[in-house]
Parts: sequence; structure tokens; C-alpha cells
Amino acid sequence: MQVKLAQNYGFCFGVKRAIKIAQDHKDSVTLGPLIHNAKEISRLKRDFNVDTSETLENLQKGRQLIVRTHGIPKNDLKKLQNQQFDIIDATCPYVRKPQMIVEEMSKEGYDIIVFGDKEHPEVKGVVSYAENGANVVANFEELQNLCLGKKITLISQTTKQPEVFAKIAGYLSVHCAEVRVFNTICNATFDNQIAADTLSKEVDIMIIVGGKNSSNTKQLFMICKNNCAHSYLVEDESELECAWFESKKICGITAGASTPDWIIQKVQEKVLAY
Ligand code: F3S
Repeated sequence: MQVKLAQNYGFCFGVKRAIKIAQDHKDSVTLGPLIHNAKEISRLKRDFNVDTSETLENLQKGRQLIVRTHGIPKNDLKKLQNQQFDIIDATCPYVRKPQMIVEEMSKEGYDIIVFGDKEHPEVKGVVSYAENGANVVANFEELQNLCLGKKITLISQTTKQPEVFAKIAGYLSVHCAEVRVFNTICNATFDNQIAADTLSKEVDIMIIVGGKNSSNTKQLFMICKNNCAHSYLVEDESELECAWFESKKICGITAGASTPDWIIQKVQEKVLAY
């Protein structure tokens, strides 16, 4: 099997930074998974004794605490600071930015609209910085059901589609007296998406490597599936199925922003052998 890698794939700047921080702080603990990749989390545990705690209550005192790339809600951070935890902030700067925008603009009296997934930890964190709460819309249709105020600030979850964001911004500027639009979509995701879109038009089969709970990996999968019906999302090489490759010549590979190189390499090696 011939393999073509996407021009941009895998780890982004924020994830590389968070992993480096974790590796530099052996024996620390993260609140919630540091990144969306179970295998990398296990490696950090095995090689660096970095643990994950799912709740604030279970955190052990005396260990350094790393805040994950997606950030945590403002109140959780305050609680930890009040309990004198030694906190190391690995929140991606591109996630910190919308948190600061939401805090500032809500103080100035703007209603906040977040284009994103309500249950995503990044969005929960960002919303927590709004003085009076925020409306989260997952798509254009949900926006149309909102009762809109006069002064609106719009931001986006970092991994959302720019086209839908632009459509939402356009609608708001027609329907509201004043709209401040902050494009907080992350370029790293965007670059991976463009490369996946290009490659999936050129190959017989596309393999997308990444965590099944990672929103940007799922996004890549949807883009590829649109161009190449034989697109498959796998967490690692063990999920590849021989039958997928029958009568195919060229296989494209891309990977989500939280997928480590060592996993992508193993997938590539196995695909090459088909
Ligand atoms: Fe940060 Fe963008 Fe990665 S928001 S964690 S650099 S995908």
C-alpha cells in the first residue's frame, strides 16, 4: 500500500507545550485529562508518574497540579488557589484568549454568544468567565432560536468550522444593534483541516488517527468522509482492518491535534504492510 501523509497533521503547539510541561513536572497530577488522547495520558503516567484526577475533591495535597490544555472553570481555579495548591497552568494560550475576551466583554455589558459544544470542557471553561452566563450555540439553527439582546459579543470554540462561524457573525450583524466578533478559531486545527480536505480528494482510503472523544479528530473525519467514502477513524494501529484496504492503492493518513507521533508512525507502518 502506498501511503501519503497530510501536509499538516497531529500535535498542535498547545498540546506539545502541555506535554512538555507535564514531562517537566514529574509526579504531578492533572485535573481532568491533560489532552484528549488516552494513550498519551497512559505514557505520561508510566514514564513520568503524571496522574489524572477527575474531580477536585479527589486531588491529593502536596502534588503539583497541572491545568489541562482546555482550561478549567474559573470557580474551580479559584477553589484550588484558595486551597494553596501549587498550580502549573498548561491551558493553551489560544484557549486562554477567549476566556479573557468573555470576561472583559461581559463586564462591559455585552451578551456573550459562544459557537461551540455546550458539554466540551473548553466551552465550559470559557463560559465560566462570563459575568452573567453565556449562550452556547452548536450550529446556525440553534442561533435562530435565541432571543437576542442589543449588544452581543461572539466568540468560537477553537475547533469549530470557520464557515459556520462566519454565517453566525453575518446573521448577528443584521439582527443586532452592536456586535463584536472575535475569531477565536485556532489556526492549527484549520491547517490540519485544509490538509485533510486536500489529501482525502486524492486517495482511495483515508485513515484518521485520534481519540474518539476528541472534537477536532471527529471534525477531520467528517471532512475526509465528505471527499472519500472509505474514511476510517482509529485510535491506534490495532483498530485497522485488513478488509478496508482490499483493492485500494493509495492510503492517506491524517491525525487529530492530540495524537502523538509515535501512534501515527505505528499506524503508518501497519498500513504500508498491507
Ligand atoms: Fe491550542 Fe489550537 Fe492546539 S487551541 S491546544 S493550539 S488545537
